[in-house]
Amino acid sequence: MQVESPPTRTIWRSPDSAAVEIIDQTRLPAALETCRLTSLEDAAVAIRTMQVRGAPLIGVTAAYGVALGLAEHADDDALAAVIATLAGTRPTGRDLFTVLAKMRDALAGLPPAERPQAAWSLADELAEECVRTCRAIGQHGAALIERIAKDKKGGPVNVLTHCNAGWLACIEWGTALAPVYVAAERGCDVHVWVGETRPRNQGAALTCWELGSGGIPHTLTVDSATGYLMSEARVDLAITGADRVLRDGTVCNKIGTYMKALAARDNGVPFYVAVPETTVDRTTSPGPGAIPIEERDAGEVLRASGRNAAGAHDSIAVAPLATAAFNPAFDVTPPHLVHGLVTEAGVGPATPEGIEALFGPAPEGRPA
Ligand code: MRU
Repeated sequence: MQVESPPTRTIWRSPDSAAVEIIDQTRLPAALETCRLTSLEDAAVAIRTMQVRGAPLIGVTAAYGVALGLAEHADDDALAAVIATLAGTRPTGRDLFTVLAKMRDALAGLPPAERPQAAWSLADELAEECVRTCRAIGQHGAALIERIAKDKKGGPVNVLTHCNAGWLACIEWGTALAPVYVAAERGCDVHVWVGETRPRNQGAALTCWELGSGGIPHTLTVDSATGYLMSEARVDLAITGADRVLRDGTVCNKIGTYMKALAARDNGVPFYVAVPETTVDRTTSPGPGAIPIEERDAGEVLRASGRNAAGAHDSIAVAPLATAAFNPAFDVTPPHLVHGLVTEAGVGPATPEGIEALFGPAPEGRPA
């Protein structure tokens, strides 16, 4: 369905029934379309096919998926099966597992008859909490941008970002882009360098679309241009989101983040990661191979996709047809390359002590 006026959120309850609506992000930037999720399967497919994507939005969609999945049966077996289905959609982003653990812990102690309504209420609360959290991240991060603007004495603050960690990846505001929106709202002159983020081009398709809709000046570059930009002193600050942050400050984010962090370190550009507590994984022990990295279809690398002149989805081969391709969706940036974490609790170092100072001691509990 083509929508008349743009929605202000990425996911919302249908007013008429127990269903949710989403912006279908696979259709952007060519078309702003919404689609309706009425079942557990709809929610799982939306996450798996990346109609919704971005760690916090995946988490909230999963929360609504639990509510949808309990509509007919809500006994212990049904609850476990619903959670297992959603947990199997995408492996890397932490919010999915944080949210499923919260849903399980809140619902398991209730009589089955009360679970569906409680699941809807909790999903609504998690969506609202995500909005509040992102706004707070924006406020803390905007101060960093404003400080650079003051020191710079003229010209825009040039912020480099990667992938899409804006409102499309959350419910509103975003994580990495929230500081940009808040700084712009407060009158700061800010310009964003957007890396295209091959192979799925979330930077080109989604970040450029949302920054354009929000009136934020921005320029798209190929991913490999960002080292050059930093070496030419054309980047004041880099901010990305994260799919998972470990308790020592290790950052897992969209493939290509590590290269940007290396280039930032080599050129003295502060590299920040904006992240809500729901993305922080305090259970998994840091170390090689600790984080499950999603490996996606080789076809995403072997072909380039987009809309043709008629507006239809199209893809063309960019390599010889028999070429082998490797397509990891995320990479891991060690904490020593991260200047700081921008969170809802403030800005702090990407260290065990920094994370504990921001969020307190690690809570008890197990992920889904
Ligand atoms: O594969 P995606 O599009 O879900 O990956 C998204 C990212 O890597 C984002 O940077 C991350 O989820 C942070 S979103 C606030």
